[in-house]
Amino acid sequence: MNSAINKCIKYEISVPSKEEMFMFPVPKLCSIERKLSRLRCSDEERQRLMASHAPFGELFTDHMVVAEYTKAEGWHDFAVTALEPFSCHPATSVFHYGQAIFEGLKAYSQPDGSLAAFRVEKNAERFIASAQRMAMPPLPKEMFLASIQALVETDRKWVPAGFGESLYLRPFMIARESLLGTRPSSVYTFSVIACPVGNYFPNGLSPVSVWVSTDYVRAVRGGTGEAKCAGNYAASFLAQQQAREQGCDQVVWLDAIELKAIEEMGGMNLYFVFSENGKKKVVTPAPSGALLKGVTRDTLLTLAGDCGYHVEERRIELDEWRDGCANGRISEVFACGTAAVITPVGRVKSARGEFAINDGKSGEVTMLLREKLLRIQHGLDADPYSWRVPLVGVGD
Ligand SMILES: Cc1ncc(COP(=O)(O)O)c(C=O)c1O
Repeated sequence: MNSAINKCIKYEISVPSKEEMFMFPVPKLCSIERKLSRLRCSDEERQRLMASHAPFGELFTDHMVVAEYTKAEGWHDFAVTALEPFSCHPATSVFHYGQAIFEGLKAYSQPDGSLAAFRVEKNAERFIASAQRMAMPPLPKEMFLASIQALVETDRKWVPAGFGESLYLRPFMIARESLLGTRPSSVYTFSVIACPVGNYFPNGLSPVSVWVSTDYVRAVRGGTGEAKCAGNYAASFLAQQQAREQGCDQVVWLDAIELKAIEEMGGMNLYFVFSENGKKKVVTPAPSGALLKGVTRDTLLTLAGDCGYHVEERRIELDEWRDGCANGRISEVFACGTAAVITPVGRVKSARGEFAINDGKSGEVTMLLREKLLRIQHGLDADPYSWRVPLVGVGD
């Protein structure tokens, strides 16, 4: 067991000398209290746990960030503490009315030993948009980044160094007022927890099979589909269960009105690779007001263009997907998201039949984009768009 640290000091977020290294300004003084009363793991225990390659999201680091919001004080009391349970009144409003939002991003080990995040400002912006949709108080961007940085700096030994491995960060916000009245809570908790991760899918890079749901829909325009709110995921589990019963790995969502247009796959966006006149075109469903606009999806719009592919956001229907695979126009389909990066889709099943994509094999565009993205994230390739955000320096 570890010796008790019993520290309670002000945590000074290390602000890099060049503020422009960050994609949005970090406040000069951004103090987060550090209350490291005990460490869960010795160095040997942590190394043993990290070598065990626990399934995605099941192994947690030693610490967490917490902060509180009240109407009177706004966001306050930011602290890095030992990872510990929350204590909540049974009437806490998140249990009843589900005001809960979250984000998902990663910290990557860089070749020089420093640690960097990837386009974290996009996650901060989406967290604000999700909060607004759920009538929750937006967390300022700089506090979002400072919290990420504080946790990664504190738990930096938990960041795996291998290619494709990273520290998955889960910022989230929940309503904390003890309240049975149906109105937004006036008290909130923000927290960040972290998990060292490798492959998201247990079968690594094998193409996944998908079940296109026509019994259930994920979201409708005007609903909460563009927000990363907990309820969207709760509502998706039954369809995901149905996909499993159909022998498929993941569920694919159709638009909620006509059940025709492809929206997305489980917790990932979709891309279709078309071959036309010997040229490759990379197409993703256009934002419909219902699908979650992924950071990876947005990144690939640029990366695919840079690789020389024509890129398009437009409506794609299930019929076009099936016919395109039959006549060879669609040569590859892949899903993308922070957790699993890029995953090939090999087989599609629905109430209307079943078909394979590229004979169920992964394709070259899929694998090229995956490699390119990972190499930028891990600092192995140039970063022309300044997507990498330094979090912890080499000697810090
Ligand atoms: C429903 C849904 N779609 C798409 C994505 C991909 O988003 P990102 O690339 O920002 O991880 C996610 C993951 O956050 C998601 O939950």
